[in-house]
Amino acid sequence: MPKLWIYGGASNPHDTAVATDAGWDVVGYIDDSPPADTVNGRPVVLPLDFTALDLPVANTVCGSTVARDDVYRTMLDLGMWGTDLIHPSAITHGYQIGGHVCGYIQEFVTIQAGCMVDSNVSIHANTVVGHETKIGEGVFIAHGVMISGRCTIGAGAYIGAGAVLLPGVKIGAFATVGAGAVVTKDVAPAATVKGNPAK
Ligand SMILES: CC(C)(COP(=O)(O)OP(=O)(O)OC[C@H]1O[C@@H](n2cnc3c(N)ncnc32)[C@H](O)[C@@H]1OP(=O)(O)O)[C@@H](O)C(=O)NCCC(=O)NCCS
Repeated sequence: MPKLWIYGGASNPHDTAVATDAGWDVVGYIDDSPPADTVNGRPVVLPLDFTALDLPVANTVCGSTVARDDVYRTMLDLGMWGTDLIHPSAITHGYQIGGHVCGYIQEFVTIQAGCMVDSNVSIHANTVVGHETKIGEGVFIAHGVMISGRCTIGAGAYIGAGAVLLPGVKIGAFATVGAGAVVTKDVAPAATVKGNPAK
């Protein structure tokens, strides 16, 4: 069983379950503010104490894409390398992934043919990513999002749970799409939209 550290997730047993289901042996957690010395019987270490650079790390930090991005940069600065944590129930049709990958794809996600997914992207359970969609670095996509074909999601964007993106829509970098929004038009960088139609 290949070994894996999880960055964040020390208080979230779900991430450990996803990793275990996907065939990884989770050896411990990396956390800026460890809740305890051990969690789930595994050690929790501070980033700067982290020495096992020969093992891959999955970045499961949630909350905001800014927090995820901070963690990702810290990992790169410390020389860590990441892995793509893909739950076995996810269906992926030959999509391409970026260089330093340390994101995760949860249960029952479908990624259709011809998509490009950049580094440090997290896609939560039951989301569908339509064909030929491009997802930029550090994007956070919550549960149950329906992304139509040929959409573009800029780096650092946050897509709330259950949102729907109509075909070909472009979401600007670091934009936020509210939970349940129906996005019918392009969204400007750093803008927040919500509702149906999303504004
Ligand atoms: C859109 C969002 C980012 C707005 O956050 P915010 O700026 O803090 O918004 P507020 O809570 O201050 O609400 C502002 C107004 O927008 C409304 N609103 C908030 N979220 C909304 C949503 N998703 N759809 C429609 N209206 C929404 C509020 O009811 C409020 O309306 P009011 O001014 O008439 O009272 C946030 O509500 C959201 O949807 N986040 C996504 C959460 C999610 O999917 N999490 C998944 C975690 S895995």
